[in-house]
Amino acid sequence: MEMNSTNVEAVVKQVLEQMLGSQAAAPAAARTESQAIPKTAKVAMLTALEHYDIKEFPMPEVGDGDVLVKVEGCGVCGTDAHEFKRDPFGLIPVALGHEGTGEIVKMGKNVTKDSAGKPLKVGDKVVTCMIFKDDPDIEMFDLNKKNVGGADVYGLLPDDDIHLNGWFSEYILVREGSTIFNVSDLDLKSRILIEPCAVLIHAVERAKTTGILRFNSRVVVQGCGPIGLICIAVLRTMGIENIVAVDGNQQRLDFAKKMGAEKSVNFMEHKGIEALSGAVKDAFGGYLADFAFQCTGSPVAHANIYKFIRNGGGLCELGFFINGGDATINPHFDICSKEITTVGSWVYTLRDYATTFDFLKRAKAIGLPMDDLITHEFPLEQINEAHVTNLKQEGLKIAIVNK
Ligand SMILES: NC(=O)c1ccc[n+]([C@@H]2O[C@H](COP(=O)([O-])OP(=O)(O)OC[C@H]3O[C@@H](n4cnc5c(N)ncnc54)[C@H](O)[C@@H]3O)[C@@H](O)[C@H]2O)c1
Repeated sequence: MEMNSTNVEAVVKQVLEQMLGSQAAAPAAARTESQAIPKTAKVAMLTALEHYDIKEFPMPEVGDGDVLVKVEGCGVCGTDAHEFKRDPFGLIPVALGHEGTGEIVKMGKNVTKDSAGKPLKVGDKVVTCMIFKDDPDIEMFDLNKKNVGGADVYGLLPDDDIHLNGWFSEYILVREGSTIFNVSDLDLKSRILIEPCAVLIHAVERAKTTGILRFNSRVVVQGCGPIGLICIAVLRTMGIENIVAVDGNQQRLDFAKKMGAEKSVNFMEHKGIEALSGAVKDAFGGYLADFAFQCTGSPVAHANIYKFIRNGGGLCELGFFINGGDATINPHFDICSKEITTVGSWVYTLRDYATTFDFLKRAKAIGLPMDDLITHEFPLEQINEAHVTNLKQEGLKIAIVNK
């Protein structure tokens, strides 16, 4: 398949075939005929700070290695919120939206399989993952999860003359050299949640490298936005039950309990770090946490979290996708004398994507309210309202859904 004509294909296929078994090895299926495809597509372009325009662009040619996808929905992420407010990546004008999913309406003649080797055909439901720029074999599959370096993602690409580069749109052109997954066996809400869930699959994989996270671990999850709540869900599907959620928003803490946290601590009710760490200790029945996940973008929260962890415990810091400023900690008391093992976590790998598909099915099977994470759905035309709602933190995951 042309989309994976580089080294990426061999490595991805080998790793994912192991994970997906015969499904991935199945022969290529039907080809590429287009359905009734309109001549133009609407794209929500962020054209200025805090302002999207709905623009209409000619439908692009679909090259031999390309896939044209009719967008069904896309979640609004914290990164979109940052772009909306401040454009930290300097991308305006830009077609945003990277938590998207949709249906294939046309494929280039060279495209037969997805990045896992699973057959692809018109009508299949798909998501995209990273677009690798340099050294994909090493960076994306390194056992130590050296998941850093050159990777792009649809929804955070500079605008070009194709324009259909983000999932806040009616159609997206997934180009040769991208990664794409056939996820026809997942429903729309699950598919919209794949990207943020992969962030947590990766974070938990990073946490496991410390050797500290175990079945019976006491775990603190600090921050109960979508990221922290999904963190709790991932822990629950792994059989970890002794979870204490920390946040200042009682509604979110209540949801954390529905997601499987055993106890919650509202930091607004405890003045000062001594009182707060005492509350966390009480919630664990007189013990500090074995492990903690930091899921806020707040430097204060980063400084606080060391006080919740026992001597010899571990921390996964994943809350800072963009520069949120410096945190003040005392390296002697917080790290050295306690021998804390810390890992950072940054997005995900292709392998994490495949794990995420299974995770979503398992989470639903054990009754976790994953669908309830999507609290608001807006049509594309109301993308500005969707972002304002997101900024007000009125719900959890806000999604654009094309009816
Ligand atoms: N590492 C990665 O690859 C990655 C990927 C996606 C998002 N992120 C980051 O993860 C963070 C969380 O994402 P989200 O979508 O859940 O954000 P969010 O803003 O919806 O949620 C953050 C939560 O943290 C809570 N909070 C704030 N200060 C706190 C404190 N001192 N103690 C406890 N709770 C506190 C807030 O009340 C809120 O509920 C963001 O900063 C985001 O940039 C990282």
